[in-house]
Amino acid sequence: MLDSQAEVLLTALRVKSPLTYEHCVRVAEMVDLLARELHFGDEPTLELSTAALLHDIGKMTIPTRILSKADELNEGEFFRMQGHARMGHALLSRLHGFDQVAWIVRHHHERWDGEGYPNGLAGAEIPLASRVIHLADAVDAMLHPRSYKSAYPMEWVLGELNRCRGSQFDPHMVDVATAWLEEQLRAPQKLRKAA
Ligand SMILES: [Fe+2]
Repeated sequence: MLDSQAEVLLTALRVKSPLTYEHCVRVAEMVDLLARELHFGDEPTLELSTAALLHDIGKMTIPTRILSKADELNEGEFFRMQGHARMGHALLSRLHGFDQVAWIVRHHHERWDGEGYPNGLAGAEIPLASRVIHLADAVDAMLHPRSYKSAYPMEWVLGELNRCRGSQFDPHMVDVATAWLEEQLRAPQKLRKAA
């Protein structure tokens, strides 16, 4: 069950940015399903589920004019947006009992090759839970349209996951996720369709 502190934060995010909130809910659903495939256990840990729901909570600190900008961000805005991972950690680490969740959220944009942010962690240095969220976050972003880009079909998403296997994404996680996503193509009832 979601902690009441997390519920308050999610409600605030829903008001600030409904699109970000909806993305977080979808990512959390996908993370729960992926975690089972990755043998995190029959029930994914509460920390993982909570971190998935709150992974973009740092966007609360991003000005709405940047967060809701219809066009692509300029360099300065992009840099500011990247700060949401660090700000998410700063927000969550102030809550009682959220140290682990804060740590997972901080690293959800790290890449397997060390080219991510905010700390440039690489490989197994990146918390496992952060790697799961990173992959689900990317899949959801590709499957859903934004004002500046179209939604991509699942076949294209699968190609991207494999192209970025071992660079952006944990290779083992790509193998497990692509097998699971291919199953979704055949029996898509588990995963919400792109809106
Ligand atoms: Fe993010």
